[in-house]
Amino acid sequence: MQELVKEIEELKRERRAVILAHNYQQDVVQDIADFVGDSLALSRHAANTDAEVVVLAGVRFMAESASILAPEKVILLPDVLAGCPLAASIDVEGLREEKAKYPDAAVVCYVNSPAEVKAESDICCTSSNAVAVVESLPHRRVLFVPDRNLANFVARFTDKEIIPWEGCCITHYRVTLEELEEAKAARPEAKILVHPECRPEVVEAADFTGSTGAILKFARESDAGEFLIGTEMGILHRLRVENPGKKFYLLSPGLICPNMKLTNLAKIAACLKEMRPVIRVPEEIRARAYQALERMLKVA
Ligand code: 13P
Repeated sequence: MQELVKEIEELKRERRAVILAHNYQQDVVQDIADFVGDSLALSRHAANTDAEVVVLAGVRFMAESASILAPEKVILLPDVLAGCPLAASIDVEGLREEKAKYPDAAVVCYVNSPAEVKAESDICCTSSNAVAVVESLPHRRVLFVPDRNLANFVARFTDKEIIPWEGCCITHYRVTLEELEEAKAARPEAKILVHPECRPEVVEAADFTGSTGAILKFARESDAGEFLIGTEMGILHRLRVENPGKKFYLLSPGLICPNMKLTNLAKIAACLKEMRPVIRVPEEIRARAYQALERMLKVA
């Protein structure tokens, strides 16, 4: 493994590349990354880095966001098959049909979506800023796509009418209220921190709901010593590194995203050597999707 790490370091220098990793990536990938963060932080970083090449250790929609925000850079996705079933639950035709039913509604699009869908939307959001994005709009009605659970979470904090798309994350969906209650009974002192992609009854029963970045912040700032975590297991790495005195347990053994786990050091080295797979959003789509992402970045 040390050989691979050395090779990646050399290739990074040669290519003037940075590695951006999502909080769900494998420990070794997070350790080699120049920056690790949630979806919002990755977008901001991709937009602002002066590197010529960005290796996006995450899933396709994250690489697409980087390409939309930084078209002059080469965006590499180490495994071209790293997709997101939630993002794949919506397409442009379906969104257009839905928009026709609610012509007065603004379209808020979670970043876990294809670039073409972002291009058809008024504004994007991530789970860090979804409430602020919805509240920033003058519209009374919001078509919120594609995650129905995040839509439901947002609806708790706004008077606007939220019309959800029926998509969801199959990994977060695996956490049930029964599992949460069992875990809580076994560790009654533990704080329960979950992602808003979890089912509404799980969110309702949790102590805190937020993006991966917000969960990390909550754990850092909390006086509690034990936490039950309701999001993808990759986050445990940073939680444990940043809080050596605290204990972290997963709410469900099913919290593993197979797509996030496709990236490894060998694929990162290979993509930097071969300079592919490149993710590039076609300009006609990119220019429109950029508006939606840029509006989001201005809000929060
Ligand atoms: P965050 O923005 O909270 O990192 O969410 C990423 C994600 O894809 C959740 O499934």
